[in-house]
Amino acid sequence: MASKSRVLIARRVFPEVVESLSARFDVATNPDDTPWPPDELARRLAGCQGLLATIMDRVDEALLARAPDLKAVSNIAVGLNNIDVPACTKRGVKVTNTPGVLDETTADLAWALLMAAARRIAEGDAYVRRGDWKIGFEMNANLGTDVHGATLGIIGMGRIGQAIARRATGFDMRVLYHNRSRIPEADEARLNATWAERDRVLAESDFVVLMVPYSPAVHHLIGAAEIAKMKPSAILVNTARGGVVDDAALVEALGAGRIAGAAIDVFEGEPKVHAGYLGLRNAVLTPHVGSATRATRLKMCETAAANLTAALEGRAPPNLVN
Ligand code: DGY
Repeated sequence: MASKSRVLIARRVFPEVVESLSARFDVATNPDDTPWPPDELARRLAGCQGLLATIMDRVDEALLARAPDLKAVSNIAVGLNNIDVPACTKRGVKVTNTPGVLDETTADLAWALLMAAARRIAEGDAYVRRGDWKIGFEMNANLGTDVHGATLGIIGMGRIGQAIARRATGFDMRVLYHNRSRIPEADEARLNATWAERDRVLAESDFVVLMVPYSPAVHHLIGAAEIAKMKPSAILVNTARGGVVDDAALVEALGAGRIAGAAIDVFEGEPKVHAGYLGLRNAVLTPHVGSATRATRLKMCETAAANLTAALEGRAPPNLVN
C-alpha cells in the first residue's frame, strides 16, 4: 500500500478539520495559534507534500527550496500576498485559496467599522467608561455623521465590494464605485451603483471603503494626495490589506483634521500598528478581523482542507490559483 501523503497545518485550526484531514493523510499540526518563525516552518515542512497555511506564513523561494517534496499549498484566506505564487508555479506546487466563503462576513465588518466611525461608537464607549458622561442628554457632545442618505464610495468592486454595496440599499445611499473593470450593467442596476473614476469617488463620497486585493500595484493606493481629494467631512474605511493605505499619511491627515475619521482593520506591517493611530480619537482600530466569526473561519478551514485534499489526491482543487 502506498504511504500516506504528509500534511503540515501551520496553525491551530478546528479539531473537525484536523480529523477529516487525518483520515486521509499523515497530519502534523501547530498546537498553537501563533505562527512558527520561517526557519521552524521550513524545518517542520521538510518531507511534507501538503501545507495548510495562514496569511502569516510566508511561502517564498527560500521556504520552497527547503521543501522539495511539497506539492500543494492551501491558504486559509482569500488573499495570497504571503505566497510567492510564480515561485510555486515554477516548482510545480499547486496554490489554492478560499474565495466566496468570507464575503458576507467581511462586508458585515466593513459596515460595522463604517457605522462605528460615523457614530463615534468607540469614543462614546470610552467616554462612558471614563465617567465623563455627566449630563443625561447633551445637545452638542458626541455628534456624529448620518449614514442614511449619504454617498458611499467603494474602491474595489469584487465580491466583497458588491456585498458592501448591497447593504447600502437599506440606508438609501448613493453608491459610487471604482474598479479596474466595470461590473455588468445588471449588477450595477441591482446594487444601484455607478462606476466612476477613482478621483471622483474620493471627491464625492461621504464614506470611502477600500476593498481591493493587495498587489504591489496597489501599494499606497491611498496616500496624502488621495486623502487631499476627499471631503473634510469624509470617513475612510480600510478592510482591504495593510499597505493599500499609506498609514503615515493617514495618521497625519487624521491628526490635522483633513478628513473626519477612519476605521481600519488592516495595517502596514501588522500586528505592528503605526504609533500615531493610538492617540487619535477619530480612528477606530480593529485587529484584522474581517473574516473573524466562528462560522466563517470554520468554512475557510473546511474549504482549504477540501482544496488540499483534492490537490494531493490528483483531482482539480476547487480554488486553484496557478
Ligand atoms: C483573507 O482571507 O485574505 C483575510 O484577510 C484573512 O481573514
